[in-house]
Amino acid sequence: MQYTWDDIEQHIAACTCCPLSRTRHLPVMGRGNYQAGIMLVAEAPGGQEDQQGLPFVGRSGEILDRLLRGCGLDREGVYITNIVKCHPPGNRDPKEEEKEACFPYLKYETFLLKPRIIVCLGRVAAQRIIAPDFKITKQHGTWIYRKNCALTAAYHPSAILRDPSKYGAAQEDFLEIAKKQAEYSQ
Ligand code: URA
Repeated sequence: MQYTWDDIEQHIAACTCCPLSRTRHLPVMGRGNYQAGIMLVAEAPGGQEDQQGLPFVGRSGEILDRLLRGCGLDREGVYITNIVKCHPPGNRDPKEEEKEACFPYLKYETFLLKPRIIVCLGRVAAQRIIAPDFKITKQHGTWIYRKNCALTAAYHPSAILRDPSKYGAAQEDFLEIAKKQAEYSQ
């Protein structure tokens, strides 16, 4: 039997696989275009996302929207999700067991979307998806290829909020992402 997007959403809504389910207000399923060739993966919902049940609705969402617009993309043209679907209290990094418990959902999302491009937003996502020793400051903007998919990483919008000098590097990475997408849609 093959799961549908609705099935995944229902599983996430009822999930109690890790302790984050006891402290979350709302789980945050990925959102965006189910036909998109690009999947953006960040680490975990923040406080505002937890309240609304939607990814990137807070201040980091504004940065993400600027980065997308700056390379001719928008939320309707991508799919955005997180490694863990529930907000870690105090915005701490998700723990290993929380990432493991949630990973099957990301696998199902990837299976259904079949993205040609995966963009990890920040260290936590890049270390889970690309390589455990991934160094975001040195390796953002580099590409690796797995099966039919190109993977890269860019600074997390929250890192840009903390250090706005990272914005330029992130915008350059997003321009390359848009170029790759144009290449793949020829
Ligand atoms: N930060 C994340 O990593 N994910 C969100 O959805 C929002 C903020």
